[in-house]
Amino acid sequence: TKTYNICLLPGDGIGPEIIAEGVKVLDAAGAKYDTAFSYTEALLGGCAIDACGTALPDETLRVAEASDAVLLAAVGGPKWDTTDPAKPRPEQGLLGIRKALGLYTNLRPVQIFNALADASTLKPEIVDGVDMMIVRELTGGLYFGRRERFYDEDGCGTSGAAGQRAYDTLEYREYEVERIARQAFEAARKRRNKVTSVDKANVLETSRMWREIVHRVGAEEYPDVELEDLLVDNTAMQLISRPVDFDVVVTENMFGDILSDEAAQITGSLGMLASASLGDGTALYEPSHGSAPDIAGRGIANPLAQILSVEMMLRYSFDMNEAADDIRRAVTAVLDEGWRTGDIKQVDTPADKIVGTVAMGDLVVSHL
Ligand code: NAD
Ligand code: IPM
Ligand code: MN
Repeated sequence: TKTYNICLLPGDGIGPEIIAEGVKVLDAAGAKYDTAFSYTEALLGGCAIDACGTALPDETLRVAEASDAVLLAAVGGPKWDTTDPAKPRPEQGLLGIRKALGLYTNLRPVQIFNALADASTLKPEIVDGVDMMIVRELTGGLYFGRRERFYDEDGCGTSGAAGQRAYDTLEYREYEVERIARQAFEAARKRRNKVTSVDKANVLETSRMWREIVHRVGAEEYPDVELEDLLVDNTAMQLISRPVDFDVVVTENMFGDILSDEAAQITGSLGMLASASLGDGTALYEPSHGSAPDIAGRGIANPLAQILSVEMMLRYSFDMNEAADDIRRAVTAVLDEGWRTGDIKQVDTPADKIVGTVAMGDLVVSHL
């Protein structure tokens, strides 16, 4: 039996509820292929702030680095929301671990399960066949630039008085754009051979550089892959007018954050969107959604984004493609049988087909 060490980061809100289902599915999928997983749980986010005063304790990073892969649920919540820049925030833990592990590529696969075509808020004929991969740059851009908030004596308040001032900067270096572009082109070669690079090159200097570099990498190294540019505002619109046309979408960190939540809704719910955060070392797998404080503790969260993140872990970290296919088939079968969590229920879903987090996890396991 082969054994892999997994670092578990349940985090906050619905995090502990959904990660338990991910673990259940990982164990069941591994068992079929003579593979065992050994887990070490660590603190990240709000729970870490409460226990250690910091969102990313050194111990957590040590455990993560020593693991074969990291499975994260979600962090954050109103308890730790603050506008005081001196206070720690859960999200800093997430950004910190992404940066420390060098996870510059975030893959967010937006795929419609047939059974959910009319769970989307878009018309079924628009979402039918949607299959795109959002490649989000994850360790640069606006999230990691110089930032400051300060009190300026020089006319920042009302009628020329002193007042507050703040800025965030969006910066990219050539190598950062090159490497994410390569990830996008590589992904496209395994799919339908098309990349849409999303930017705001009509306004932003970083975007003009981004566009130039993506085109150079494409022309020099991937002439076989079709490349189109699309401005981010237009993309937000086209994602919901012709989602089927997108194959690989590559974009800056914050654009990718926003567009991927929008794209998730095409599939019926944010609770369906998995993700893989990859770099050169240990990779991290996390649903794209957050800690859903509005439904935390009620046992009704959809665990499928977490479970599909486990599928990605098997594919990308352990090359266990058959086990990954099994998970996808199991999820498809459960949805085909009509089982739904509250977020993906349809108008005609009977009440006895609406299940909670644990039952949904059990259903997936029973189909493995
Ligand atoms: P959210 O993604 O947590 O929730 C948005 C909406 O989607 C909510 O109505 C929620 O109930 C619903 N939802 C999300 N996941 C669901 C699931 N699995 N099943 C059913 N419904 C689901 O976003 P938010 O409310 O804006 O943020 C809440 C907190 O989460 C914030 O502190 C934010 O910073 C944090 N956050 C963390 C991550 C992460 O850890 N990767 C990602 C996004 C947001
Ligand atoms: C995500 C989240 C995070 C992000 C937050 C919580 C820092 O929204 O993973 O999409 O913006 O990257
Ligand atoms: Mn997000």
